[in-house]
Amino acid sequence: MTADVLTGAEGIDLFSDQALIDPYPLYRALREAGPAVRSSVHDVWVVPRYREVREVLKDWRTFSSAWGTAIDDGINRLRAGNIISTDPPDHDRLRDVLAAQMSARAVRRLQADVERRASQMVGQLLATGGGDVVSRLAQRLPLEVVADLVGFPSEGREGLLEWVDASFNTFGPMNTRTLESIPKLKGIWEWLDTMATPERLTPDGLGAAIHDARRRGDITADQCRSLLFAWATAGIDTTVNAISSAVWLLASEPEQWDVLRKEPSLVSSAFNEVLRMESPIQAFTRRTRGAAEIGGVGLPDGAKVLVLFGSANRDERKWVDPDRFDVRRGSADQVAFGYGVHSCAGQFLARVEGQAVLAALVAQVRHLRFRSAERKLNNVLRGFAHLDVEMS
Ligand code: HEM
Repeated sequence: MTADVLTGAEGIDLFSDQALIDPYPLYRALREAGPAVRSSVHDVWVVPRYREVREVLKDWRTFSSAWGTAIDDGINRLRAGNIISTDPPDHDRLRDVLAAQMSARAVRRLQADVERRASQMVGQLLATGGGDVVSRLAQRLPLEVVADLVGFPSEGREGLLEWVDASFNTFGPMNTRTLESIPKLKGIWEWLDTMATPERLTPDGLGAAIHDARRRGDITADQCRSLLFAWATAGIDTTVNAISSAVWLLASEPEQWDVLRKEPSLVSSAFNEVLRMESPIQAFTRRTRGAAEIGGVGLPDGAKVLVLFGSANRDERKWVDPDRFDVRRGSADQVAFGYGVHSCAGQFLARVEGQAVLAALVAQVRHLRFRSAERKLNNVLRGFAHLDVEMS
């Protein structure tokens, strides 16, 4: 198969407002067009199917992160050497710094505290008959949990929400969203340089552990700074969007809500299904090292490859009736957390947070109904600016 026969799909702009509001028909067209589709709009090869997404993510030697995982080269230079912009063995050194603290076992120690916070926030929403889930639950929980875990002082934490959104926008092409986000990145760096110092961070947090690694000589001062950036940004908006999407799907599909209420043991399966349906990160980029092949399609050396997690999770080749939300489906092998060496380092924590919210909803809320929503458009994230639900 050659790229030339795929003309229809070639012109799809996955980063237009319209595409971000409803990307799924475009994803379907791309999946039908082939396992790797050359997009002339942003000069990338789009990988839309489940099988090839996993193959690309697994083969880090051929599909490298070392040039960066954003589409734009200038942005990639800003993130050079970051944990997500490196290949093994450099990558492993950075990943090892916090591996023990983020293991399933270590995160289990945080579980009771996260559950308590989630239960309290759901209780507060319920007390007012519902309201805006984004500001009162979905943003509050991950912001509090991650900021406390890293050990940030409380001053100015809320600013992280806007900066993190801006940071994710810059993974897209150089469109208006990226251009408007670049100046905001300065804000997060200044805040981190002032607040994420050994003197201001709590002594037992992840931030302090990153500084300890620098003092031991395991990582350089630059790597210390970029790891603090990665841990401050990667864990917030992703989980915010997962929680908002969970409540949106359950509030919009009363039958599924009833199934979950009757069978609370499905909470973990339901959270996987939310991540499959509405992958919080829709896409990241790799670059070929040497000539490569994806599902029989040849790619040249140095080609940018846009890996569509959000489309793989809706691939009809993998999932029966993929657009149907089904909390019983058992979607444990969804790829919303990525796959391979870069697969999400915070996924155990994200699961604890998401499942705590679902468990608190099931335990406290009987009636849950969707009222209104406004999408927040971000080049790579999928979520809401507002989500109003009714609860009793
Ligand atoms: C539902 C929530 C989340 C989703 C969907 C998500 C998704 C992802 C994805 C897709 C990647 C892979 C990037 C790649 O392949 O290039 C990733 C990496 C990462 N995530 Fe998450 N994430 C979530 C929550 C978190 C949390 C809570 C934290 C930390 C507190 C976190 C920290 C990280 C870090 C540090 C990496 C980089 C790992 C590496 O490059 O080795 N994430 N995440």
